[in-house]
Amino acid sequence: MIELQGIFQTYQGSSGPVEALRGIDLKVPRGEIFGVIGRSGAGKSSLVRTINLLNRPLAGQVRVDGRDLTALQPDALRAARRDIGMIFQHFNLLASRTVFDNVALPLELEGLRRAEIVARVVPLLELVGLSDLKDRYPAQISGGQKQRVGIARALASQPKVLLSDEATSALDPETTRSILALLREIRREFGLSIVLITHQMQVIKQVADQVAVIDAGRIVEQGQTLEVFSRPQHEVTRSLLDDVVPQTLPEPVLARVRAILGAAPASQARLLRLVFSGCESDQPILSDVIRRFSVDLNILHGQIDEVQGRPFGALAVLARGANEQLRATVAHLRSSGVLVQEVSHV
Ligand SMILES: Nc1ncnc2c1ncn2[C@@H]1O[C@H](COP(=O)(O)OP(=O)(O)O)[C@@H](O)[C@H]1O
Ligand SMILES: [Mg+2]
Repeated sequence: MIELQGIFQTYQGSSGPVEALRGIDLKVPRGEIFGVIGRSGAGKSSLVRTINLLNRPLAGQVRVDGRDLTALQPDALRAARRDIGMIFQHFNLLASRTVFDNVALPLELEGLRRAEIVARVVPLLELVGLSDLKDRYPAQISGGQKQRVGIARALASQPKVLLSDEATSALDPETTRSILALLREIRREFGLSIVLITHQMQVIKQVADQVAVIDAGRIVEQGQTLEVFSRPQHEVTRSLLDDVVPQTLPEPVLARVRAILGAAPASQARLLRLVFSGCESDQPILSDVIRRFSVDLNILHGQIDEVQGRPFGALAVLARGANEQLRATVAHLRSSGVLVQEVSHV
């Protein structure tokens, strides 16, 4: 649905040129929620703004629904942009317009008649749950409600693509969850492709089918969310993931582990990091190995959660037993589909 090829973007900064995007290639399939995550300054906003050519890239192609936007004349580009809705961190509502009139604005600009506008806006307000607040002004509603207005406005032109630049970053976790649930519902209802920019892995975890990690203007890692969460390759990905699945042990836990490992012969105690991704968390895998191999497993730290509707998480486990039994334990866990990392330096 969206295809970016060889995108470069450079700004003239006060102290010389800033290379914000340095060769981005990206494909977003139709109907998918595609997450792009990165630290502040990584190039996320620059990237999302090239998709609707709010920023024209220095080089590269932007194809949306088969059309090369960079090749279009201004009139054709204006029309093509109606296929691309956008929502923002700070909502960008007009303070002097009511909820209804904010949503109606793009339709007024398109030149629709009043009756057509009403016919479009009413069901959208219903969809985002704001029918009762349609005559309020932005100053009279909450942040989450403002974002719902932003979403309804973005959908008014019946776009095929929805771009979201940190749309939940100004909201509390609970409101974030409700907005993300709304985005999922919209995707289901309209089959939209959604590009979701965020610096929060929690957001990716809750909604993204695929995730791309951007750092210093380049995509450094990309894949199915569950896959990337299970086997992060890049250091930036790991550090961002620490938010949702601990990559390292907290210092007090490490101190305890050091004490135990220091006292036991190396062959009889091991620190393991178990990553569960997919269906195995439903199985009694840990009690199974304890029974089979008579090892002691002490869960030190971790959490099992859900990603893309499937169990996912990591546990730090101290395993104790005879060397042979420990080796068999690791092998058995691996054959059960658990990713086992032996932590040798603590
Ligand atoms: N209009 C601009 N002029 C100069 N530099 C800019 C401009 N916009 C962004 N940048 C710089 O480009 C880089 C990427 O910015 P941005 O795309 O906003 O990152 P993000 O959204 O990931 O925080 C940063 O170094 C930023 O300072
Ligand atoms: Mg940004």
